[in-house]
Amino acid sequence: MPGAARFMLMTVVVFQTLPGAQRSRAGSRPDARPEHPPVEARNEAGCISCHAEVVSHRVMHGPAAAGQCATCHVVGSAAGRRRIVLKGGASSRDTAALCVTCHQEITDRLEQKHRHAPVAAGNCTACHDPHGSPFRFQLPAEGNRACTTCHEDIAQALAQDHVHAPAAASCQICHDPHGASSPAQLRTAGNAVCLACHVDVPVDASVVEGGFMFGRRPVEGIERLIATGPRILLDGSLVSGHPTIAHPVDARPDPSARGRTLGCASCHNPHGSAGAKLLRFGAKGVSSLCIKCHSF
Ligand code: HEC
Ligand code: HEC
Ligand code: HEC
Ligand code: HEC
Ligand code: HEC
Ligand code: HEC
Ligand code: HEC
Ligand code: HEC
Ligand code: HEC
Repeated sequence: MPGAARFMLMTVVVFQTLPGAQRSRAGSRPDARPEHPPVEARNEAGCISCHAEVVSHRVMHGPAAAGQCATCHVVGSAAGRRRIVLKGGASSRDTAALCVTCHQEITDRLEQKHRHAPVAAGNCTACHDPHGSPFRFQLPAEGNRACTTCHEDIAQALAQDHVHAPAAASCQICHDPHGASSPAQLRTAGNAVCLACHVDVPVDASVVEGGFMFGRRPVEGIERLIATGPRILLDGSLVSGHPTIAHPVDARPDPSARGRTLGCASCHNPHGSAGAKLLRFGAKGVSSLCIKCHSF
């Protein structure tokens, strides 16, 4: 059984044996909050009369906007006190099973080999507010900041002198935020995600997760990024010909990283770099790059 599913099952079991435990993270500490005022689970207009802030966001989540609080909340109890709990024993940090009752389109991503850590833990609300937020998809921040709040190293790469235009535009161009069959949740295996913008051959969308080359709803301006990516010259098989005429870019071991295959990311940082051409290893010139793999 995959890790996340096992984790979800364990959570459910815990909730069934301890009907009082609303929040697993609180451990055995008694919940000192006053009990919830008496309510009828289905009196959703009543919910909003006391919890108006829940329906006041610029970008609202469908069921919250429709006032359907009972699709997720039920009246329960904890330590003998009345509480409003999540349906099906979900905890606020593991809502995956609850969310996918309506969002079946996410289910396949929960079974991918390379799931994003918070997704694997079921923690959908790390990124999506279940009620709403000021930003699209009810995210906690605008654009890439929804990612860089947790990925400080990438924020640093984006603050370098040379920033890769698609990385500045949207992380989702190359990464699926939920999961994919390729490492780092990349939308394609190997170099294909780079070649889509850097060689003049038509992109075969079938090599991409679900056929969505740059996401289900690609970011604004994607056509311009595809059109303006500088083209490199490769031979017909797309495995060599760059940066020098017979140099391999694929299908060889990478001498700079044990166990990895040579690829575009062996020489280029896909996010940003101190020197020109996004060169890795802090290389500010071509010659300081070559010596990372060769001693001519
Ligand atoms: C009479 C006012 C009132 C009504 C009606 C009401 N709530 Fe509450 N609710 C509160 C108060 C007060 C709290 C505790 C203080 C806080 O955390 O904001 C609370 C807390 C909560 C919590 C946090 C967990 C808990 O049990 O403390 C949830 C979830 C919640 N309410 C959902 C609902 C839903 C769903 C409805 C409708 C079925 C509803 N509330 C109706 C006043 C109300
Ligand atoms: C899609 C499921 C979903 C719907 C629909 C929903 N909620 Fe919630 N609600 C949650 C989750 C999940 C949490 C826990 C959030 C967390 O801990 O990050 C929560 C938390 C709350 C809380 C605790 C305070 C807070 O904001 O975190 C209140 C109050 C609340 N909901 C009220 C409501 C009311 C009122 C409605 C109907 C207008 C509603 N919710 C609709 C999923 C939902
Ligand atoms: C009761 C059914 C239901 C549940 C449960 C539910 N959603 Fe939704 N969700 C909807 C509907 C309806 C919409 C709006 C229609 C749409 O765009 O798909 C929506 C929209 C969304 C969107 C925006 C999608 C878009 O295309 O703009 C996100 C993100 C989302 N939900 C995440 C969640 C998360 C996370 C949870 C669990 C906390 C959750 N949903 C639980 C019904 C649900
Ligand atoms: C790390 C942040 C993050 C986590 C965790 C996360 N999402 Fe998302 N989700 C996103 C982003 C970003 C988008 C917007 C995708 C885009 O721009 O194409 C999105 C889009 C969505 C959409 C819109 C439809 C789609 O297919 O893109 C749904 C529905 C959704 N998420 C549900 C979920 C559910 C359910 C979970 C938990 C299992 C979850 N998300 C966990 C970041 C996250
Ligand atoms: C709530 C914190 C959080 C948010 C928000 C978040 N991530 Fe992550 N991400 C993690 C954790 C934890 C890991 C696993 C540890 C690591 O590799 O750093 C991870 C790993 C990754 C990895 C590397 C996976 C690997 O196999 O090396 C990528 C790529 C990634 N996240 C992209 C994103 C993108 C894109 C977004 C925005 C849609 C995002 N993250 C938002 C917490 C987060
Ligand atoms: C042009 C495609 C592209 C874009 C856009 C992109 N990435 Fe990446 N990212 C990659 C590739 C390729 C790797 C794998 C690098 C490797 O194999 O060493 C990667 C790796 C990562 C990792 C794993 C750790 C690391 O540094 O290798 C994280 C985390 C990450 N990206 C987050 C992000 C975030 C956050 C954004 C948006 C600000 C983003 N990426 C935008 C292509 C991209
Ligand atoms: C969505 C299209 C797109 C994708 C995918 C993409 N790039 Fe780019 N790339 C661009 C654009 C546009 C520029 C030029 C930006 C400019 O001139 O300001 C660029 C520039 C570059 C440059 C030259 C930077 C410089 O300083 O001159 C390198 C190197 C590069 N990309 C490597 C990669 C690698 C490696 C990948 C895969 C991880 C990749 N690209 C994926 C669009 C893309
Ligand atoms: C062995 C190292 C190496 C590998 C592997 C590699 N590159 Fe490069 N790349 C370079 C160097 C060095 C330059 C700078 C050449 C120069 O300035 O003359 C460069 C330049 C570029 C440029 C800028 C071209 C321009 O006209 O400004 C792009 C775009 C690029 N590479 C994309 C890629 C892509 C896509 C891949 C994978 C198919 C890749 N590179 C693989 C070393 C590499
Ligand atoms: C990330 C590692 C890496 C970097 C950096 C790198 N190479 Fe290579 N290079 C390789 C690999 C792997 C081969 C294939 C070796 C083999 O098949 O034994 C290769 C082969 C070569 C060859 C023989 C094939 C040919 O092109 O005729 C030359 C010459 C060469 N590299 C020059 C360079 C130069 C010049 C640079 C700097 C611009 C450079 N390399 C940067 C990994 C790298």
